[in-house]
Amino acid sequence: MEIFYDLEGMQKWCLNHKLRGKKIGLVPTMGYLHAGHLALVKEAGIFCDIVVVSIFVNPLQFGQGEDFSEYPRDLSQDISLLEAEKVQAVFAPQARDMYPLGYNTFLEVTGSMTDKLCGKSRPGHFRGVTTVVGKLFNICQPDLAFFGQKDIQQLIIIEKMVREFNFPLEIIRVPIVRENDGLAISSRNVYLSKPQREASLILNKALQLAKKLIADGERKAEVLRQKLTSLIESEQEAFIDYIGIVDEVDLANLSDLTEAQGKVIVALAVKIGNTRLIDNLLVEV
Ligand code: PAJ
Repeated sequence: MEIFYDLEGMQKWCLNHKLRGKKIGLVPTMGYLHAGHLALVKEAGIFCDIVVVSIFVNPLQFGQGEDFSEYPRDLSQDISLLEAEKVQAVFAPQARDMYPLGYNTFLEVTGSMTDKLCGKSRPGHFRGVTTVVGKLFNICQPDLAFFGQKDIQQLIIIEKMVREFNFPLEIIRVPIVRENDGLAISSRNVYLSKPQREASLILNKALQLAKKLIADGERKAEVLRQKLTSLIESEQEAFIDYIGIVDEVDLANLSDLTEAQGKVIVALAVKIGNTRLIDNLLVEV
């Protein structure tokens, strides 16, 4: 497995493989790898000749007062996990090389898709995500890039960016990987104390409730929102950031689920103590 820290070395290596007709798969991550990330890596291994995993805690997508400095990092453990997955290359650039002094170029999906849900709670977050992902696409030249449905808004925004900015690649969606008890796996789960870890189950419980209510015929978003709110609020440690009930196609808010052009997304952001957790469910109505 090759490990690249410099942008130029990574780009040359990828271009070289591309010229030789190899199909390159890119898995962008912020490291501290877990089973969710590894599901993306395994999926990439099925479809591609060359799998590149990027590990970069991107300062541009963290707001003031967010957890950029505390964000968990363990590059040597990440490297051993990826070696076991038979990944061909790891790209672990430095922030000073990605954004040298005077850096001024950004890639932004504007409008309602980025202003709501996580975009509302974390202004500038998606501009940071699309900028770094656009740079990674240009450096690694992937044919396919793999993203998790865990971050459904990020995924849909990146799909839009790829269409609208004509990136010559395909985005592959990978389903959410969960712990046995239903908690969506996240690098941030390490922040949770034992009682908070218990309390975090409320997110998946709320999504299961939404699934059942929809299966039983409920179509009014407001009714769903109220029922999910009371369930989540019954957990003392949990504070709702948002409960989004939106259309998969354009992330438009739905008042009646039958208005959806695509699947319906029920998306949650809930703070458990100081840790903000997200989870979501896609349902066909
Ligand atoms: P990170 O949070 O490290 O996640 C990297 C990728 O793993 C994302 O596509 C995310 O959706 C996916 N992922 C995380 N947990 C998952 C789970 N439990 N099941 C399935 N997929 C999961 O998302 C980012 O990093 C960054 O914003 C990034 C795209 C790398 C840009 O900096």
